[in-house]
Amino acid sequence: MKILAIESSCDETAAAVVEDGRNIISSVVASQVEEHKLYGGVVPEIASRRHCESIVGVVDEAMEKAGCGYKDIGAIAVTYAPGLIGALLVGVNYAKGLSLATGIPVVPVHHLRSHIASNYLSHSELEPPFLCLVVSGGHSHIVMVEDYTKMRIIGKTRDDAAGEAFDKAARTMGMPYPGGIHLDKIAERGDERAFKLPHPVVRDAPYDFSFSGLKTAVINLIHNSQQRGETLPVEDLSASFRRAVVDSLTDNVFRAAAELKAGTIVTAGGVSANSLLRREMQKGCAKRGIRLFMPDMSLCGDNAAMVGSQGYYEYLSGNIADLSLNACATMSIEKG
Ligand code: KG4
Ligand code: ZN
Repeated sequence: MKILAIESSCDETAAAVVEDGRNIISSVVASQVEEHKLYGGVVPEIASRRHCESIVGVVDEAMEKAGCGYKDIGAIAVTYAPGLIGALLVGVNYAKGLSLATGIPVVPVHHLRSHIASNYLSHSELEPPFLCLVVSGGHSHIVMVEDYTKMRIIGKTRDDAAGEAFDKAARTMGMPYPGGIHLDKIAERGDERAFKLPHPVVRDAPYDFSFSGLKTAVINLIHNSQQRGETLPVEDLSASFRRAVVDSLTDNVFRAAAELKAGTIVTAGGVSANSLLRREMQKGCAKRGIRLFMPDMSLCGDNAAMVGSQGYYEYLSGNIADLSLNACATMSIEKG
């Protein structure tokens, strides 16, 4: 079955046609990042406006590239939660309008579930159950994926998400938004032992994360050195910061894997593009004899192909919305 998928939860307007949850027929992503860069982060009002302007063209292009008409489409999958409410509403309302016009059912998709599903597109052999580290700009979770639409949260961040911490540390070092990718590149040239930074642990919650203390430590280091008229070596600071974040992510996920006797670990979300995280996951899984799956680099960030993949499994489980479907800014991945 072919699914038309729509994603507009943050600053990418995206549409895709995906077959049987596993094959990408077309995928179009219109990024707004250049405009948000001017402000050092996503401006929600601008994001909504740009989605409104782009959505018709992006969906039409995805259909055209797939060589499809609406008669070939079995369902319209759309990201409905979590995310920027004004941004989500554009995709949800467009999907509902298309459904009204064509009679095709709408399938609501949780954004983090779709990040996990990016792995089904990259690895045809991957099936639940598995343990998943979901690390994006807004969320950091360790999730037990018991089935395609059944998830259990094992741990999550108490404050900032990993991507958010990367972006804020990078911004203070003068890098453009979104800074995570720039910090990652610069860190490759640095000495990760140059700065002693806190390696955060959450007492009595061995699978939870906390990144705000670490982020503040870096920001304070930079501000204090600026006040003294000194400049810090950005390569070394980036490398030390990246090491602290990645150690926290990998320590917790391997602790959870041991406790739950997980034989398969999967990573998902924008931060799963991080080069040190990918290397450490590979090393750690090889050492423990755990199978590891990570999304192709092209599917780590926001896209609609992953929505089409998860949408297929939501459809199979009977998760079909009526026209009262609304967008939600927050929603647990367990409720989906
Ligand atoms: O999953 P995503 O595209 O959007 C959300 O759902 O939030 O994740 C975006 C986040 C941003 O914070 C971005 O800086 C981060 O992923 N990111 C990275 C890297 N590439 C993207 N963080 C660290 N290293 C990277 N290579
Ligand atoms: Zn995302």
